[in-house]
Amino acid sequence: MRQAQPPDLVRMYRISGLSSMTKTLITGGRIVTAVDDYVADILLENGRIEAIARQLNVTDAERHDASGCLVLPGGIDVHTHMEGVQGPAVNCDSYETGTIAAAFGGTTTIIDFAYQNRGESAKKTLDDRLALATPQVAIDFSFHLILTDVPPAVLSELPDMIEREGITSFKMFMAYPDILMVDDASIYRTMRVVGDRGGMVNLHAENGPVIQVLIEEALEQGHTSPKYHSLTRPRLMEAEAVHRGIRLAELAEVPVYIVHLSAPEALESIVAARDRGLPVFAETCPHYLFLDDSEYERPGFEAAKFVMTPPLRAHDCQQHLWRGLRFDDLQIVATDHCPFCFNEQPLGLRYSKQLGRESFAQIPNGAPGVELRLVLLYDGGVRTGKLNLNRFVQLTATAPAKMFGIFPRKGTIAVGSDADLVLFDPERKQRLSASTQHSRVDYSMFEGREVTGKVMKVFARGELIVDGDRWLGRAGRGEFLQRGASGQIL
Ligand code: URP
Ligand code: ZN
Ligand code: ZN
Repeated sequence: MRQAQPPDLVRMYRISGLSSMTKTLITGGRIVTAVDDYVADILLENGRIEAIARQLNVTDAERHDASGCLVLPGGIDVHTHMEGVQGPAVNCDSYETGTIAAAFGGTTTIIDFAYQNRGESAKKTLDDRLALATPQVAIDFSFHLILTDVPPAVLSELPDMIEREGITSFKMFMAYPDILMVDDASIYRTMRVVGDRGGMVNLHAENGPVIQVLIEEALEQGHTSPKYHSLTRPRLMEAEAVHRGIRLAELAEVPVYIVHLSAPEALESIVAARDRGLPVFAETCPHYLFLDDSEYERPGFEAAKFVMTPPLRAHDCQQHLWRGLRFDDLQIVATDHCPFCFNEQPLGLRYSKQLGRESFAQIPNGAPGVELRLVLLYDGGVRTGKLNLNRFVQLTATAPAKMFGIFPRKGTIAVGSDADLVLFDPERKQRLSASTQHSRVDYSMFEGREVTGKVMKVFARGELIVDGDRWLGRAGRGEFLQRGASGQIL
């Protein structure tokens, strides 16, 4: 595999007044952003990047030799579910364990979810989630607000959510009838209210009512095993909902963001809309890029480990997703980290897939992944020549920051940006396993896979929080990010 060689020097910044002991100097690393690739030193001070130059002569700083490493902007994962509730089930990662796992994977910011109960105000939804997350989070964070019920009183709160609280993205479900699903009118009304003010609706796009018919038919025929989760969620019903969501946004004249896109037929609608110049955006996830529906043939209940929504697709779908990533029809790779243990022990039945032993329809939907995003995408994307390094950074840090209103504070390496940095060894091999990951989940979808590339050190606002296998951060150090406009990336 060929890669561009870093130029000797791309940027030089003058430094002055360096005195405090809160300084950190990272020397000799290969700095990669969405557009740059060069070797230089970086000075971190007071949580920010203070200076970047070919050589910085600072004597009173803690030094970290990054030679041989890539220096990347801290990853931003815009789709995680920590402590999310799904009927009787609860995600097995708390905000503490989930954000520690994220950090070990090179992610320094997450955008998680605040779930509105029906009848609840948006403000209460946000306040309750903040109270739960704030004492626990180990990295910086924000929420998308999940809206399940949008009477006029809730709609009237949304301008304040955007302008005062810095919540500028609102997730709505076209799937999961009677639980999370909202109708088209609710989606359209919400789009109209938020889209004019710098807000954006994120859609889980699957045709929920038709999928419900397929589920009921399968169960009537006695099909209860996990693979029927996949067989009852066809690609066409993802494509139908993506198309519908785009048309609603087009009518409302606002941007729209499709989460966890998996099907080529759905991608076709994204491509067509973007070709028409519409502000239509989408993410995909590592599991759709690296796994396929053959996992559902695993014996017994094992396939439940791969029950997420949308399900894994046929192997040949992957090439379409890679093409989408290369040509910017897909802008972001997020994990949709939504972990449930496979076994009931040690955390208990409600944290586990075992809730669905008798029926695939009761298996909590979701799979883990927050710790593996960078390494999987580096190993399987960059090293295979499907993505170049700059695009890798763009997909995992820069586009997420721009899409959801936290750029340039986050998502790049530049003077004045937060000192969120990952030292990544591009040659170090590792074998992925649940036994070495930091999430509380008890399995890995990538168990035993050997990959090349490893996160060596992670700095979050200048603080070294991961050093090899050592955790140096602490619960509660993460800051809530009040975000600017979403969906303004062009
Ligand atoms: O299976 C999944 N994706 N679970 C999380 C909830 C969602 O739909 O994003
Ligand atoms: Zn979803
Ligand atoms: Zn999700």
